[in-house]
Order: sequence, then structure tokens, then C-alpha cells
Amino acid sequence: MLDSTTLDREADEAGMITEAVVASFSQTGDARLREVCEALTRHLHAAVRETGLTREELDTGIAFINAVGQATTSTHNEAILLADVFGLTTLACHNDEAWEGDEALLGPFWRMHSPLTPNGGSIIRSATPGRPLEVAGHIVDRAGQGIAGVEVDVWQASPCGLYENQDDTQSEMNLRGKFITDADGRFGFETVMPAGYPVPTHGPVGGLLAHQQRHPFRPAHIHFLAWKDGYRTLITQIFVQDDEHLTSDVVFGVSDKLVGTYARSDTDGEAAYRLERTFTMREGETHLPHPPIA
Ligand code: BEZ
Ligand code: FE
Repeated sequence: MLDSTTLDREADEAGMITEAVVASFSQTGDARLREVCEALTRHLHAAVRETGLTREELDTGIAFINAVGQATTSTHNEAILLADVFGLTTLACHNDEAWEGDEALLGPFWRMHSPLTPNGGSIIRSATPGRPLEVAGHIVDRAGQGIAGVEVDVWQASPCGLYENQDDTQSEMNLRGKFITDADGRFGFETVMPAGYPVPTHGPVGGLLAHQQRHPFRPAHIHFLAWKDGYRTLITQIFVQDDEHLTSDVVFGVSDKLVGTYARSDTDGEAAYRLERTFTMREGETHLPHPPIA
């Protein structure tokens, strides 16, 4: 009988190594873990066969994974970036049976404990030159009724395309805030127009993008995370409608429903913008994600 010590090339050609590996998972206590490991094994083995992967190439891949781990710190999460540029995070969002096109990936820049800010207040916490933007949000249930008391975290990159934790010129928590919806489910704040930005490219994922001759840009957007007991946590992003990278987001996060209308008005020759947006929350289990960075 074949076991892992007697397997040879012929056995591999018949796919028996794959079956032997899958069989070795038979005692896994957690059924879901077993299912995921089985599927990963089948697909990874198929990729190794299809490409004729060499041992040297496998070594390169292993060194790459190690470098991803080594590049991850308390302020930067390279592994999330890796999942994102392979489209895995967006795919996992779509996999959620409740996904209706209005949710998006969390990304690596969400921080817990954004400053609680009164509705209508500003999230500009240090000098941030840019075009003024007013955001008026409305959180409703599936029947269209406003939901009071929802905690809404917002975060965005500056007009220079950097989050505050990437940029020494911005103060702590600049362009981040937490709002609580009023009795009608409304919240709002003042800020500046976000800019599109490159995802961090200083690590191995940046090197991979360069090899692939892919640009590293995300189209301009603001992130929203809405949270209230009894409702599914809503994690989303609203994109600026005329960004040049809307159809080539490096992390594949744009869907039609996520494109906003950042409406421009001009007063005394000065451009100002307003985003009005309704977000629907569904009843269900509440959970806060693990913050990718401290
Ligand atoms: C973000 O939108 O903040 C983001 C998402 C994925 C990778 C990098 C940044
Ligand atoms: Fe972002």
C-alpha cells in the first residue's frame, strides 16, 4: 500500500501524492479547517503540476513568504497587502452570503479608537491643504428607517495620498474620526477631498507588483465602518467618481455601488465638494474586525 515514504514520480503522475496528503488530514478535529486545507492542497498541487514548478522556484516562493512576515510590524501589515493584490480579500467579501455589492475590504489602515467627534465636526486635526469636502451620511435599515446610535468610524488618505500613520507631517489621527448617528440615523463631518494613492511598495509585495508591471494605485476613497449591536458590521469605501484608477484598482475593491457622487460647487471661484450617501445595515451578528495595525 502507498504511504508517504513509498510515493514515487509515477504515483505523483496519477495524483496519488495529492490524495495521500488529503488523507493525512482525516483526523482534523475542526471540519472547516479540514475542508479549507483539502481545497488548498488540491489547488496548490494542481498549480505545481500545471507550471512544472522547480525546487529553486519553490525556494524563491518560500523566501518571499518569509519576507512578507518580516516586513510586517505593528504599523504595517504586508500579509494583508499580499492577500489584497491577489484579489483574495475582495473575493472573500463577495463570498459572504449577505454581500450585495455595498461592502468593501477593510484594508490595512483601520485603527481602533478614532477620536469621537460631534456630528458636523471636522476630522482635519492638523494643517491639511486640500479641497474642502462635506460628508452627509444616513444609516438606514432594510426598510429605509434611520438607525440611531450607530458608531461610524471614518478614515481616509490626505490629498497627498498618505494616511496619517504613514506621514510624519500629519498629526495623530488626522483624517480619522468616530461619529454616532442621531435620532434619524444621520451623521456628518467636514474634511478634504481624498486622493488616490499607491499601496505601500517598500516590501516584497511592492517588488512583486514591479515584476508584474502593475501600477500600485487605489482610486481615491473614504472608508466607513458602521457598528451597532444587533446589526451586521458594515465595512465599506466610497470612491470618487472620476478617479483615473477606478477601473484598475490594484486591490480590485471597486464595485458599481461603491462609486459615490462627490458633487462640486464653486463659491467665489473656490471649489468645494459634498458627498451625500445612504448606507443600509442588515440585522445580524455584530463583530469588530481585528485592527490590522496598532
Ligand atoms: C486601503 O484602502 O486603505 C487599502 C486597501 C488595500 C491595500 C492597501 C490600502
Ligand atoms: Fe484606503
